[in-house]
Amino acid sequence: MVHGGGNAIERRTAYAERWPRRGNVSAIGAAVTVTSNNPRWISVETNRNALIVGASSGIGWELARVLHVRGYRCCVAARRLGRLRTLQQALGGQTLARELDINDAGGAMQVCEALIDEMGGLDLVVIASGVGDINPALSWSTEALCIQTNVTGFAAVANVAIRHFENSGRGHLVGISSIAALRGSKSAPAYNASKAFMSNYLEGLRQRVSRFGDAIAVTDVRPGFVDTAMAKGENQFWVTPADRAASQIADAIEARRAVVYVSRRWRLIAWLLKFVPEATYRRL
Ligand SMILES: NC(=O)c1ccc[n+]([C@@H]2O[C@H](COP(=O)([O-])OP(=O)(O)OC[C@H]3O[C@@H](n4cnc5c(N)ncnc54)[C@H](OP(=O)(O)O)[C@@H]3O)[C@@H](O)[C@H]2O)c1
Repeated sequence: MVHGGGNAIERRTAYAERWPRRGNVSAIGAAVTVTSNNPRWISVETNRNALIVGASSGIGWELARVLHVRGYRCCVAARRLGRLRTLQQALGGQTLARELDINDAGGAMQVCEALIDEMGGLDLVVIASGVGDINPALSWSTEALCIQTNVTGFAAVANVAIRHFENSGRGHLVGISSIAALRGSKSAPAYNASKAFMSNYLEGLRQRVSRFGDAIAVTDVRPGFVDTAMAKGENQFWVTPADRAASQIADAIEARRAVVYVSRRWRLIAWLLKFVPEATYRRL
């Protein structure tokens, strides 16, 4: 591995492997000439950069581990920097950790933009951050926080990611939405509505980048119950362990899927939810 070191040939080769559309590449692995590089982030072991927002616990944490094993150089981001540092140390290598509060949309966008410069570009952005509380009292503070985090914060990071991918002509945006996106909820109206926003927004972005063909992908991940701090309430079923959910999400990323249910059997629930008539659903 070359990490901010190695000779010039190694550095150029590594850069060409990472950015095969950039520079003057004669053959992957051969000595090549490139016009620019960022030696701090060169590695011959990994060639893809990923940002995972919401990686301090749960699905994002496990996904960072899986993506690291599958060859991504990861930057893990969230508010709890101490937990991110623990993950960073566990992953080792060139893993980065960044404190980021998605509720400060402007600040979060700046952190992402600075990271893009520092890493010399991103190939994958996963937005796994989110809040969700059951809110039978319809407390406005709970509703407002959910909308701020899952709608405004999510859209802000997605905006930075898509503009970056369009500028570089390639990339992959992944949003962790939910099966909850499909219908409203009397016990958590803001949560389900925020997930509907996420799924709809991701569909709009996918339509927007379709002119890039397969070079830019947008994936909407819709988990059912996953065994994390987020999974609240009684009567849970088909609860997927977080590491298994992460592994299925990583498979969907590699397959560049548009929409994926996690675990797969939740497709059946999705199908049922879509077909329950409004009058029946209201009484549930
Ligand atoms: N678990 C489930 O059953 C389930 C089902 C469907 C969908 N989902 C979705 O999956 C995603 C991940 O949730 P999880 O189950 O892994 O729950 P989790 O363990 O509670 O993880 C939530 C993550 O979001 C981050 N986050 C929350 N607010 C943030 C903010 N203001 N700025 C930056 N990061 C923030 C948290 O980090 P910090 O607190 O450190 O900031 C944490 O890393 C969520 O979008 C959730 O809606 C979960």
